[in-house]
Amino acid sequence: MLVIGHRGAMGTEPENTLLSIRRAIDMGVDCVEIDVYYVNGQLIVIHDDSVDRTTNGRGKLAALSFEQLRCLDAGKGEKIPTLNEVIDVTKNKVDLNIELKGLGVSQTVVELVQALDKTVRNHITISSFNMLELQDAFQRDSTIKIGVLANAKVGEAFEWAKKLNAYSVNFKYSLVTKNTVSKAHKLGFKLYVYTVNSPSGLQQMKALGVDGVFTNFPERALAIGLR
Ligand code: G3P
Ligand code: MG
Repeated sequence: MLVIGHRGAMGTEPENTLLSIRRAIDMGVDCVEIDVYYVNGQLIVIHDDSVDRTTNGRGKLAALSFEQLRCLDAGKGEKIPTLNEVIDVTKNKVDLNIELKGLGVSQTVVELVQALDKTVRNHITISSFNMLELQDAFQRDSTIKIGVLANAKVGEAFEWAKKLNAYSVNFKYSLVTKNTVSKAHKLGFKLYVYTVNSPSGLQQMKALGVDGVFTNFPERALAIGLR
């Protein structure tokens, strides 16, 4: 079972920062998940569409210039990273799950991934809750691995996963049952589950036979030998 560091190791370090990502790598994760927006010509790594919750600034991302965004403290003195910076930290070490947030992000992410060496690119997956962004990515480059995210409507998610020739379905914890796991596997998809933090939840997912867990506390999953 893959251990995927959610926003790096956000249980321990400020989410979606290089510090958090390096920490997850040091803990021994297989993969790191991050959230990406396309704002004012730049791919930036942040979960919300405003800076209020995760930085010392205020305002919507779209209302701030790249320079203004980069002056903010995203926790422990860390800057909001760019996607390029994250790839530099993760490449040749761990897999990277790029979750597309906001609108109009797919084209730039696909172009960035296409410019990478094949060996780096093969370790990257693009995921989203927004099927139109994923569809756009798939139409631009059907060779990039896709993860269909769902927090409801499992049936619809499987339909999209078939349509987009997805590599994985990434389901919310509460949607995962024996049936969901067997359906995913019958259809040839990996099933990854978010966000699983408690040791009992991690054990339960392992017992259900899921292929990976997104967790804020990768050390817990690794400590109980879930891999
Ligand atoms: O990709 C898994 C998980 O990150 C999806 O939800 O809101 O944490 O981005 P969220
Ligand atoms: Mg995410």
